[in-house]
Amino acid sequence: MKIPSVKGFHDVLPGESARWSQLESTARAVFDRYNFGEIRLPIVERADLFRRSVGETSDIVEKEMYAFTDRDGTDLTLRPEGTASAVRSYVEHAMQASEPVTKMYYFGPMFRRERPQKGRLRQFSQIGAEVFGRDDPAIDAEVLLLLDDLLHAFGVESGEIGVNTLGCVECRPGFRAALVAWGESRREELCADCQRRLQQNPLRLLDCKQKQCVALRPEAPKMTDHTCAACREHFDRVLELCAVEGVELVLQPYMVRGLDYYCRTAFEVVAQGLGSQNAVGGGGRYDGLVRSLGGPAVAGIGFALGVERLALVLEAQGAEVDKAKPEFFVAPLGAAAEAAAFSLTHRFRAGGARVEMDSGGKSLKSQMRRAGKLDAPYVIILGEDEVAEGVMTVRDMRARADRRGVAPLDADLATLRAALASAASVEERA
Ligand code: HAM
Repeated sequence: MKIPSVKGFHDVLPGESARWSQLESTARAVFDRYNFGEIRLPIVERADLFRRSVGETSDIVEKEMYAFTDRDGTDLTLRPEGTASAVRSYVEHAMQASEPVTKMYYFGPMFRRERPQKGRLRQFSQIGAEVFGRDDPAIDAEVLLLLDDLLHAFGVESGEIGVNTLGCVECRPGFRAALVAWGESRREELCADCQRRLQQNPLRLLDCKQKQCVALRPEAPKMTDHTCAACREHFDRVLELCAVEGVELVLQPYMVRGLDYYCRTAFEVVAQGLGSQNAVGGGGRYDGLVRSLGGPAVAGIGFALGVERLALVLEAQGAEVDKAKPEFFVAPLGAAAEAAAFSLTHRFRAGGARVEMDSGGKSLKSQMRRAGKLDAPYVIILGEDEVAEGVMTVRDMRARADRRGVAPLDADLATLRAALASAASVEERA
């Protein structure tokens, strides 16, 4: 009996993973320019870490965590996101003691038991970044510039960064009260979840995806009408710094994000090609989080991008992936040639070339077909004659030419490459 994969948990097949590797290596190069270091965080954490950060009344904690009790009775969970883990690690290793500003990035799988659909999985992968230690607007702008840089480096053409401010401990209570008052006045029209959460977590009203709640939204109070002078000044400066650097931001006064730890600057990236799941990434400032998880009063800000969603956006755009292909395909004909091909392949791989070798006594025609499929520029053909004479014949697939006896059978990689280049240039001159 076949055992299928679990609903919402996908394989990334070798043909698809090339795009993933490209996204990761591009991201690494960009993070490097902004002086971020990579952190590798565990996949399992204590469930309380997310209850106390993402929020008891968030969808993630209420409905979506893969939480379980370990054999020793500890409440654990597969991580639903990376920020809380990064904060836990920052606090645990007292990173503030060695670095006033800590910048880190991470790649890896996250787990949320959502209803699977296009671009929404139960195991998905994020590229995330977090900065600890500063709350000044220049850091928010630096993080937004980094996000914008990443989207450009990935080649996302339709990316749009929406921003809002979520206020602070000073001004959020006033906004919250205004939201509750408004929500109570429309209680009957809200969805059951929002009615239930109205008193506990009214900000969720602005994040709800239910039709009736979305329809009411344009009448709801806006945070930007309730911000204190300090938050307004902070937000204006962030917008100004980004504008000066030419980073376009779209103001979204109803954006609140689905996690509870945010304050001040919050943002979301949307792009085309995802259907209803159009958020490719999101993030924001979380100045109280480090403290609330037992650390010092240190500010934080960051974001995460969904890798599956980025891949969908790029695929919809028709963006090419650099597919790795072998430089040499070794095609032996007969048992003696196969033995020679085996050690030649090993020697060239050790020398640094990407090499594929056929075995199993296939005909030349079938081996050439496979070499063509792999798009190898050179096929090293070893027949009985080549083995007897101690030479190689190489078919240059681009030039459509056979280079008979182009190099000795025991030639090293550099010698063969040089011989092939010289054969091609002689041909060009002729
Ligand atoms: P988030 O908005 O929950 O934020 O997730 C960030 C991104 O992860 C989303 O925009 C989306 O691309 C991807 N994502 C989320 N859920 C799924 C899913 N079920 N299937 C596929 N992709 C998904 C966070 O996780 C925050 N930790 C971001 C952050 C970092 N804020 C500050 N620092």
